[in-house]
Amino acid sequence: MSNSQANIGVIGMAVMGSNLARNLASREGNTVAIYNRSAEKTRAVAAEFPDAGFVATETIEDFAASLQKPRTAIIMVQAGRATDAVINQLVEAFEPGDIIVDGGNALFTDTIRREKAVRETGINFVGAGISGGEEGALLGPSIMPGGSAEAWETLGPILTSIAAVVDGRACVTHVGTDGAGHFVKMIHNGIEYADMQLIAEAYDLIRRGTGKSPAEIAEIFAEWNKGELESYLIEITAEVLRQTDAATGKPLVDVIVDQAGAKGTGAWTVQTALDLGIPVSGIAEAVFARSLSSKPAQRAAASALPGPDGDFAVADVDAFVEDVRLALYASKIIAYSQGFDAIVAGAEEYNWDIKKGDIAAIWRGGCIIRAQFLNRITDAYAENPGLVALVTAPYFTDAVAGAQSAWRRVVIAAAQAGIPSPAFSSSLAYYDGLRADRLPAALVQGQRDFFGAHTYKRVDREGTFHTLWSGDRSEIQAVDAH
Ligand SMILES: NC(=O)c1ccc[n+]([C@@H]2O[C@H](COP(=O)([O-])OP(=O)(O)OC[C@H]3O[C@@H](n4cnc5c(N)ncnc54)[C@H](OP(=O)(O)O)[C@@H]3O)[C@@H](O)[C@H]2O)c1
Repeated sequence: MSNSQANIGVIGMAVMGSNLARNLASREGNTVAIYNRSAEKTRAVAAEFPDAGFVATETIEDFAASLQKPRTAIIMVQAGRATDAVINQLVEAFEPGDIIVDGGNALFTDTIRREKAVRETGINFVGAGISGGEEGALLGPSIMPGGSAEAWETLGPILTSIAAVVDGRACVTHVGTDGAGHFVKMIHNGIEYADMQLIAEAYDLIRRGTGKSPAEIAEIFAEWNKGELESYLIEITAEVLRQTDAATGKPLVDVIVDQAGAKGTGAWTVQTALDLGIPVSGIAEAVFARSLSSKPAQRAAASALPGPDGDFAVADVDAFVEDVRLALYASKIIAYSQGFDAIVAGAEEYNWDIKKGDIAAIWRGGCIIRAQFLNRITDAYAENPGLVALVTAPYFTDAVAGAQSAWRRVVIAAAQAGIPSPAFSSSLAYYDGLRADRLPAALVQGQRDFFGAHTYKRVDREGTFHTLWSGDRSEIQAVDAH
């Protein structure tokens, strides 16, 4: 293979890579080289899609030789060691000025490390978050690239050509340097966890409170999808609830084991937010709810514990369904507000110039959390780029104000009936915590000062103070020991 015919290459011919390669090949002017560790997969993809005109290669050297310079390759392999292995091979085969893109779900700190190491060879390295699953990869994903501005110059037009398009705008933007793209993709996934959990709680409450069947609840979600909750996740929820199991004739949702899996990006979001000191409680509760569901031994042991059994009948079905809709909308606003807080904190910590409004805009299409209401987030940051909390933007403040009585009724109903609603209730607690004039954090500071001399500030005077708890309990000036 000596003639360099391809202008872009894709490594990894599993679901994501093969679909992304087909997407690239379908765009005017592209010739796509493909490579996979096991060559039979490369051959199979090339044979299955002859119209794509793939340049199928069987060694990394052939792959590199098939690419025009500067070479551009997108890696779509398993995150972690597999990605490192492929990067090492490419660094050997590529030359300074070439571009390596990792489109997998890498942890952003790995991307920071890889970018630094690869940059030293003169090769550009770009970590790009790609969302939208199989269909997005094929038809147009939402793409969140990091890396250098120089790499973006070459890569930008290519990624723009394959991204989803909403209102004439491609769902891709240069998020920031090194790991910024994967960081934002991680937060996207965290928000996705929260959104899914909130929808699941809404379904559960409606089903138990009204006795409606999954198919009937599907119609409610389909109706909600015409309004401010309009989103891909609401749409597919209706599809899932409508599905009947062919083997038993029961609703499919009733024959699926109620233990939710996870690939880890939700946990990364929470771990990162903990390190940054940002409360992403809605996302955290969603991650924990999946963990709790997947503990069959503990659930079996606890199943006889006392408490209401979750059965309750609401007096006014329509009013309750509307309450749940409003609770879902308010909680969703909180989840996004928390996610954007984490983006702001990450940008500060890692020196990224992330445009929040642009992030909301590129999530409007292609990705799993695509939703009508992302426009409102873009508007909010356009009006006030320094917005300190999304929920304080006028549109969202009004939305929560209109929803909050319903939200409280739903959380009360869930608690009284013994129905777990961790994301609904923690979002409400966060909202009340954020807007409180005084928090019991003052008492916590007093306790910390008592047992650990951690000191405290006073509301009425500058300075740092400590009470001599084991002495005469007088107050002294102290050095801040927070
Ligand atoms: N699936 C989704 O919906 C989705 C959505 C967004 C992002 N992603 C991310 O996209 C990436 C690809 O996902 P996927 O589901 O298509 O594939 P995957 O199952 O995560 O990975 C399979 C691919 O990795 C290759 N691979 C594994 N170990 C390797 C190694 N040591 N050296 C070289 N290649 C190795 C495999 O090659 P062999 O065929 O030789 O084993 C195969 O091409 C992942 O990072 C994933 O997290 C996935």
